[in-house]
Amino acid sequence: MNIENKHILIGITGGIAAYKICELIRKFKKNGADVQVICTPNALNFVTKLTLQNLSQNEVFVDEFHPKHWKPEHISLADWADVMIIAPASANTIGKIAQGIADNLLTSVACAFPKPMIIAPAMNVNMWQNSGVQSNINILKSRGAEILPPESGFLACGYLGRGRLCSIDKIFDCACDILSYSKILSGKKVVITSGGTIEKIDPVRYISNFSSGKMGLALAKCANLMGAEVTLITTKDVDVPFKTIKVQSAKQMLESVNSEFEGADFIIMASAVADYRVKNYSEQKIKKGNDETITLELVKNPDILKEICNKKQESLKNTPIIVGFCAESENLEENAKDKINKKGCDFLIANDISRSDIGFNSDENEVIIFDKSGGKNKLEKSSKTLIARKILEYINH
Ligand code: CTP
Repeated sequence: MNIENKHILIGITGGIAAYKICELIRKFKKNGADVQVICTPNALNFVTKLTLQNLSQNEVFVDEFHPKHWKPEHISLADWADVMIIAPASANTIGKIAQGIADNLLTSVACAFPKPMIIAPAMNVNMWQNSGVQSNINILKSRGAEILPPESGFLACGYLGRGRLCSIDKIFDCACDILSYSKILSGKKVVITSGGTIEKIDPVRYISNFSSGKMGLALAKCANLMGAEVTLITTKDVDVPFKTIKVQSAKQMLESVNSEFEGADFIIMASAVADYRVKNYSEQKIKKGNDETITLELVKNPDILKEICNKKQESLKNTPIIVGFCAESENLEENAKDKINKKGCDFLIANDISRSDIGFNSDENEVIIFDKSGGKNKLEKSSKTLIARKILEYINH
């Protein structure tokens, strides 16, 4: 990956691993990138301004109240950077960024930064395992930050465990990976559905499925990085820097997909839509009777994918390109080919849910992309992020 002239903003917080960031700056500079550094005041207890200044060949920022330009420093730096890396990220800074606190230059820039952010925490093992720290990490993850978790080993505090900064190569590779997203979807509108639908039975019970929504979320984040205008229609709570519509049932999902249909270039149905819902929703909680069994009458839900494929056909337009997913526990290829014909979509992404190492709830996947003309392409097992990126590149080619 060529990172020449790319703008890398590195935020350093107060931790012993701060000295390792000197190596990271050198590596970026050697590869032709332009680096600017922000330190929290505590970071300067571990590494000097002069060292960072020499290595980055730029002024090092600590205080936000000496603006060089007409724009406040935190806005200028946020506008300038292509990617922001916070390493080592202390529990304190992680907490502030997660909660939207901006009380120094680093946290102010982070708050004003809508672009890709990499966070590499380093701290004592007990601090890392603290539930408050973990919930802040989860907030940042759900907002789209790339978290590079600390690694296990001897820690500077004398403990043995998970807490030391991940390798400098890992941070460097992650930044290169993010910077290599080409903006192939700029100017395109991409609508993605994710998560299993929830079909209510009564005020306390529902029918749903094990879909985690991770694949759809990964697709939405990648499409966003590739420059698309993204709408994610989801049954899950997410905190992301693009438009989301929260729904529950298949009927609500259909309504939202229809409202986003006009002007969409791609619609990707990654959600697991319940095929049936209860015929009569009970306004009151259903009480346990004397009978040993209970019968719920179910009616078919609309087939969203099929409906939008029909709508496209009626409109006689070539857009949107419609992509379905299919989760199969047996005869994957046969069922997928049958499904692409029945639904009428342009592509069908098939995954094998009988395997526990991929698919539902897993962070990894392995899929086969079928297209309506009979072609197929297998994407070998890898992270859902990488699979998402390959799917988007494939359907856009
Ligand atoms: N789908 C949909 N509406 C439904 C059911 C499924 O839009 N009521 C979409 C899914 O989002 C997915 C594709 O259709 O993109 C295939 O879903 P899948 O569950 O594999 O297939 P079904 O059509 O439900 O068929 P079956 O359950 O019999 O395999």
